[in-house]
Amino acid sequence: MDKTYDIGLGNIDVNLRKKADSDFVSFWDDEAKNLSWFSHWEKTLDWHPPFAKWFVGGTINASYNALDVHQKTKSGKSAILWEGEDGESRVITYGEMLSQVKKFSNVLKSLGVKKGDRVTIYLPMVPELPIAMLACARIGATHTVIFSGFSAASIKDRIIDSHSKVVVTANGGYRRGKIVKLKEVIDEAIKDVNFVKHVVVLERTKNEISISSKDKLWSDLMNNVSDSCDAEKLDSAHPLYILYTSGTTGKPKGVLHGTGGYLTHLYSTFKWAFDIKDSDIFFCTADIGWVTGHSYVVYAPLLHGATQVMYEGAPDFPDASRMWSILQKYHVTIFYTTPTALRMFMKFGDNIPNSFDLSSLRLLGTVGEPINPEVWKWYFKTIGKEKCPIIDTWWQTETGGMLISPLPGLETIPLKPGSGTRPIPGVHISVVDENGDDVSPNTKGYLVVKNPWPGMLLTLWNDDEKYKTVYWSKYEHCYYPGDYALKDDDGYFWLLGRTDDILKVAGHRIGTAELESCIVSHSDVAESAVCGIPDDVKGEVIIAFVVLKQGLSDSKILEKEISDKIRNDIAAIATPKQIYFVSKLPKTRSGKIMRRLLKGIANNEKIGDVSTLEDGAAVTEVQSAVDYIQKSIKETSG
Ligand code: WTA
Repeated sequence: MDKTYDIGLGNIDVNLRKKADSDFVSFWDDEAKNLSWFSHWEKTLDWHPPFAKWFVGGTINASYNALDVHQKTKSGKSAILWEGEDGESRVITYGEMLSQVKKFSNVLKSLGVKKGDRVTIYLPMVPELPIAMLACARIGATHTVIFSGFSAASIKDRIIDSHSKVVVTANGGYRRGKIVKLKEVIDEAIKDVNFVKHVVVLERTKNEISISSKDKLWSDLMNNVSDSCDAEKLDSAHPLYILYTSGTTGKPKGVLHGTGGYLTHLYSTFKWAFDIKDSDIFFCTADIGWVTGHSYVVYAPLLHGATQVMYEGAPDFPDASRMWSILQKYHVTIFYTTPTALRMFMKFGDNIPNSFDLSSLRLLGTVGEPINPEVWKWYFKTIGKEKCPIIDTWWQTETGGMLISPLPGLETIPLKPGSGTRPIPGVHISVVDENGDDVSPNTKGYLVVKNPWPGMLLTLWNDDEKYKTVYWSKYEHCYYPGDYALKDDDGYFWLLGRTDDILKVAGHRIGTAELESCIVSHSDVAESAVCGIPDDVKGEVIIAFVVLKQGLSDSKILEKEISDKIRNDIAAIATPKQIYFVSKLPKTRSGKIMRRLLKGIANNEKIGDVSTLEDGAAVTEVQSAVDYIQKSIKETSG
């Protein structure tokens, strides 16, 4: 057994876990009282599996809890210390945030946005992004933020699915010193979408844009509205946002989160996991376009009235020291990032972080993918100087907030590099076998959540049936996240990757089915199979196998066309590292592509006798496909 790390912050509340274990509903009832409610709830949990409503009858507003509640004591406190990629910086206080949010709420109202309407937001990492989100929340509109790396085709699908009549974007955003022309992408996305009535354009960059009758400048609109706007009193289950995420089908799913339960989950986990104090400077490197940014850049820190750093650009721009120079400049005390970023920093060598003063740090966190123990130890030693606990937080877009993590703000337990330790209080998690029975310690099985929790998704947007089948049908009354895990003798959880065809490329969630349907929509392609293979920095990278239509032959041009198609139809982050052109794919007798086999081949693993590999495989065909593909890979690689 590897050595454990006993780094405590001295916070111990043994009663909290006891209370949570004895009655999770009344436990969460108490936690919800940390927020400001307009009216108290009548029922803590209404559970009609698999649909949960938390704090039924209570009314609340997310923007009120993020901003108004701090005005008496903290209106002059910095909410956001913003660092632009180009070196520009801005400080926005809680008072200024509230006044901007009220004004933008009035802008949205003036554009006809009403409670329950959806608003699509496609902005770079600038303070106006959380301002726009909180303005939606203030008036009861549901925001749907799209990561600014997504393509016009992806945006179009999401705008149509959510039926957003208003889109908020910017003329451009900076990425690695270049301007990404976001407004042009939106123009393309909404070309044929007539129900989009208005596009609000923030001027972040200097590039010229074409202005149509739908377009209005952010600054013009803000100049013409008042800065008074009361927060709507919304039902606890009022939909706060839709966030699209990859699943195992061709189209992304709209994960729908509510208000009161979600905020309760975030408030409590932020306190327990990050041990947040009024004096802390928090820095989460996630882009707000992903769930980590929604939960732990926008909502959780603001609920606590915390000060946080928000960084606009690439972590290694203009050079490999950028992150450490930000940490030093702002005296960051709590740093939350991804294993992919850490692997990259580790590769750059210790001299770079060692030449900065990182002594303000007191707590470190990671999220989004399994962290390799070597990287964990490097983070602990080189960045945390062996004095900061590391929280390895496991959760998903669907869970809303952390479900497994060390909780230094609540208790001190020895840390093991690579383990998320234990579930948060009030959530019962197990590792089970195919039949749903708990497996013995140290045995790999399926992770399941056995009771509802406040941050859980309400449903999938417009698709209750899919919500039931994807998450709640494998085991009765248990939530199925699609992750393998094991629990060791000490009851610590180790997350072991996905059970399905979802990839994590540099921490970004990408479904293979979405990629395959994009590739086969190229007119020359007959079939395609995509899989992930391990990568030193990105965790996983994408490999695509492509079968062309009869009589066609591959070429560099075709390879580029397929890559470009993925960029245009999905996003640059989804482009394969390698495309292999093959004449057939290994399949089972029922015609299912044997991805596991392809993954083995792409990984250069020795593929022995295929007859033992999979049920009902057409052995001879599969063997010949395997031989053929191995031969083509050798040829491709040189
Ligand atoms: C993976 C990101 C191991 C997991 C917040 C999960 C992790 C998926 C961890 C959700 C972790 C997330 N250790 N794996 N600490 N955190 N994952 O929706 O496979 O982008 O199901 O949410 O990321 O990804 P999502």
